[in-house]
Amino acid sequence: VLGIDSSPEMLAAAAERAIPGRLEFAPGDVRDWAPAEPLDLIISNATLHWVPEHETLLPRLASYLAPRGAIAVQMPANFDAATHVLINETLAEDPRWQALKDWRPAAVHPLSWYVEKLWACGLIVDGWETVYLHVLHGDDPVLEWVKGSALRPVLARLPEADRPAFTAAYAAKLRSAYPRTEHGTVLPFRRVFFVGRRP
Ligand SMILES: C[S@@+](CC[C@H](N)C(=O)[O-])C[C@H]1O[C@@H](n2cnc3c(N)ncnc32)[C@H](O)[C@@H]1O
Repeated sequence: VLGIDSSPEMLAAAAERAIPGRLEFAPGDVRDWAPAEPLDLIISNATLHWVPEHETLLPRLASYLAPRGAIAVQMPANFDAATHVLINETLAEDPRWQALKDWRPAAVHPLSWYVEKLWACGLIVDGWETVYLHVLHGDDPVLEWVKGSALRPVLARLPEADRPAFTAAYAAKLRSAYPRTEHGTVLPFRRVFFVGRRP
């Protein structure tokens, strides 16, 4: 089994799970990575939502499958959720960071798009999606959650001096969109799943 990721930090974390000769990890970018021979199984977990151009990516990955091989993908699909919409809304409201608006186009299509795309590649497909209701605790828990995902690349592109003001404006919007209850703050989080098998 070979695991690839483009992040040295992620590869360093994975390295301790390696089993030489059976489970190995290597740097690679899924946008241009290609195997040396046809594959029995491709699994992508929580990665393809960071990668654009699924129109060309999915058929290329499907083409790597051996007969009876399978591809299984899971990815978050929250580009239309308040967490993401409010990032753009906050970016649009202030000339200091307006230029960053729309920098990350929605990468994830509706689930039916993936089913049809893999059918067109000759695969047998199962697809489903689940909305997880995460109950978060503490002050600004949705902000803390998003800091580890969608907000990361935005903050990285903002000058350090602008980050506190941007974050405060965004946090105020999140508090209205995701009100705190006596049981915690509910964050709905959608994930799409699909499995395609070559006959
Ligand atoms: C949420 S993490 C998931 C990591 C791992 N797949 C897992 O399930 O624990 C998203 C990963 O996607 C990786 N990633 C983003 N774009 C990538 C690309 N173009 N090629 C390879 N990896 C990429 C990031 O480096 C990051 O480690």
